[in-house]
Amino acid sequence: MAGITSKESPFSPGKPVPVEYFIARFEELERLKRAVKQTLSGRNENIFITGERGIGKSSLGGFIRWLAGKEYDFIGAHCFLGGVRDLETMIRVIFQKLLQEVSDKNIFDNLKNIFGNYITGLTLFGVGVEFTKDRSELRTILDNFLPVIRNINETIKENKKGIILILDDLNGITDIPEFAQFLKSFVDELATSQEFLPLLLILVGLPERREEMIKHQPSVARIFDIVSLSPMNVNESKEFFNNMFGKQDISVTPEALSLMVRLSGGFPMLMHEVGDKVFWLDEDDLIDEDDAKSGIVEAAETVGKKYLDSQVYRALRSDIYRSILRRIGKLTLGTRFRRKDILEKVPEKEQKTLDNFLRRIKKLGIISETEIWGEYEFINQLYHLYVMIEAFSAEKEKKRPNKR
Ligand SMILES: Nc1ncnc2c1ncn2[C@@H]1O[C@H](COP(=O)(O)OP(=O)(O)OP(=O)(O)O)[C@@H](O)[C@H]1O
Ligand SMILES: [Mg+2]
Repeated sequence: MAGITSKESPFSPGKPVPVEYFIARFEELERLKRAVKQTLSGRNENIFITGERGIGKSSLGGFIRWLAGKEYDFIGAHCFLGGVRDLETMIRVIFQKLLQEVSDKNIFDNLKNIFGNYITGLTLFGVGVEFTKDRSELRTILDNFLPVIRNINETIKENKKGIILILDDLNGITDIPEFAQFLKSFVDELATSQEFLPLLLILVGLPERREEMIKHQPSVARIFDIVSLSPMNVNESKEFFNNMFGKQDISVTPEALSLMVRLSGGFPMLMHEVGDKVFWLDEDDLIDEDDAKSGIVEAAETVGKKYLDSQVYRALRSDIYRSILRRIGKLTLGTRFRRKDILEKVPEKEQKTLDNFLRRIKKLGIISETEIWGEYEFINQLYHLYVMIEAFSAEKEKKRPNKR
């Protein structure tokens, strides 16, 4: 067994996956590789990677950036715009990141020349590039975005074949109309200029971020081709756990494997949470059913605290809502439930609120409707498990004789 001190979890819950652990997504990668190749031949393509929270959008973005660099000689930047609320800051983040992510010293020096006046601080190889914060200077770069990108391309074209720009975490910027307008003008300008520019632009965000942009600028709908991610299937999920544990020389019994696969329901985010907990519980480099069960319960608690407590339990303040949720939580894991069956079980005063309740937790992404009208199921079993744990602990709490 590996010594305790040298034990290191390969799982990275909450962070885009390192490229060496990236699995599956073949179809999506094929589509993105096609876009890279089109870009090489001078046909500008723009892609929107979308899907629900934690489904693997940033990981896919990170992987294609890496692949474009390694196999197609691109330079690129994966920019996280989470806190960014204006275009000047966005442009600052983009170029700062581009400089930081260039690993070739010659290219870096050439780029440094382009941006000479805008760079305010620098450490070796650009790890700590500091870009100007002066808004009017940033505005100038923004207004000249296309010429600046062309200039970059001219500078790198001896050694590199293209540029990939990934704009991720768009939650702050999509609600300002200027962002969608900016993209539209940029793409139009590029299309009409007829001059070759190998640039691949990829946006990454939740579906509602895309909707928001379309509201401001309807053309966004046709400018960006969608790459949409769904949960991984059973075989991919199995590959995930086998691969992650296998790389640490840890074996997994078939029973443990199918439990972890079932409970995480193909959501990469949940697979990492489950894997991480199971990894730390294991003591003999063999994951058996007991390890898997204990890890899954711990993961359900972590996931519940991280995602459900803040969103769901806070949103469902009313006692009636909570009591309905607990009732549903106690159903056998994985079962579907019908509105009319719950209606029979809930006290009369709760009945009127049931529809409202179902609508709300559906919107919060906890349950979804099945193909049968009036029938629901939990989005994933880990959420269900957390609701179940919460329901039983609330009951225990109620029964305690000396409640403080
Ligand atoms: N293809 C993959 N292979 C292995 N792990 C993955 C893969 N895709 C995603 N993951 C893992 O799933 C989790 C969520 O991934 P990621 O952060 O990429 O999702 P996201 O859709 O960008 O989430 P958010 O909406 O919160 O930004 C992370 O722990 C990541 O490591
Ligand atoms: Mg992300």
